[in-house]
Amino acid sequence: MSWYDRAGRPLPWRERPSVYGTWISEIMLQQTTVAAVVPRWHEFLRCFPDVGSLAAAEEAEVLNAWSGLGYYRRARQLHAAAKTIVITLDGRLPVDEAGWSALPGIGAYTAGAIASIGLGETVPAVDTNVVRVLSRLVCHTANEAASLTSASVRILATALVDLQRPGDWNQALMDLGAGVCTTAVPECSACPLAGQCRAEAGGEPETIPPARSRPRPIKGHWSLLVARAPGGLLVALPQAPPALLENTGEELRHDYGSLYRGYRSLPFGAWSAEPGDAVDNWTQWWLRLGGAWSEPPRDAGMFRHAITRYRLQARVVAGSVCGWPGGAVPEGVVVVSEAELKDLPLNTPSLRAFELAIGNQDPNQ
Ligand code: ADE
Repeated sequence: MSWYDRAGRPLPWRERPSVYGTWISEIMLQQTTVAAVVPRWHEFLRCFPDVGSLAAAEEAEVLNAWSGLGYYRRARQLHAAAKTIVITLDGRLPVDEAGWSALPGIGAYTAGAIASIGLGETVPAVDTNVVRVLSRLVCHTANEAASLTSASVRILATALVDLQRPGDWNQALMDLGAGVCTTAVPECSACPLAGQCRAEAGGEPETIPPARSRPRPIKGHWSLLVARAPGGLLVALPQAPPALLENTGEELRHDYGSLYRGYRSLPFGAWSAEPGDAVDNWTQWWLRLGGAWSEPPRDAGMFRHAITRYRLQARVVAGSVCGWPGGAVPEGVVVVSEAELKDLPLNTPSLRAFELAIGNQDPNQ
């Protein structure tokens, strides 16, 4: 901590940390350098000084304030999270790490950073810099470091968090990783951990942690249903796994739910990649519920989608239903009007499916 007090970077969001300001800075810093973020952070806070103004803004305004930072998905998710906070938490920002983790765009690192820096919660914030610093601290060689799992690094990081100054502690590790314990040429002579660091003693700190081989991509076939109903469109609730087809395995259901945590989805299921399979499955799904189709499902096309390790082909099925089947509401599904739909955080596959179905009305295509 004394090294941080002396050598920590004087960054604007560190001056008088507010939870809101910390949240915005951490989202910006996810994929953008500190130097690029500093001016944009001030600007963004001038445009949207609090969660209410951010939630009330048009998406275009938020994207404008984000321009130049890249990875615009972050801005959309930030906006979606602000709306979620206003709608479900009455505009009050979450008060702990668990609350932040439930919001779109907030993973374990970001939730830990916001909770420790903004709220003083004693939780770690483990990004790649921190993994490098801690791996070097406890491992002599790359071989040793190869058996260090991310879970064990997290346990170590959790045990080390300073109880009095958790946010400063986490930021000290980030600064150490960014400026001293760097990937290629660590400057061990300038490090406050010199003499305690096993990698330094081992003589080859730059080989730790060893480069991980990329995880193998997971190929998958998804299907999404764009079903018009009297009064709107069938949309799945985010709380219920939106996987409705019986052939959709538990694993895929879980993966889809966690990839798009906090988002709503169109009805979603597995697709076997057989021609007609997705159309048949959705047709039968509704009939089994006792419903009827006023416009039978048709194949509305396919799109490819890559997210994290998944490389997917998604098949879109579109049709119109007559109404609720026999009065029984299918579990996890509601009808949402198209006007309301614009204000919902819909996941990307659903947005793409919607565009494909609505822009492709010709059943012969
Ligand atoms: N990278 C992400 N968050 C950071 C922070 N709070 N300080 C320094 N670097 C960061």
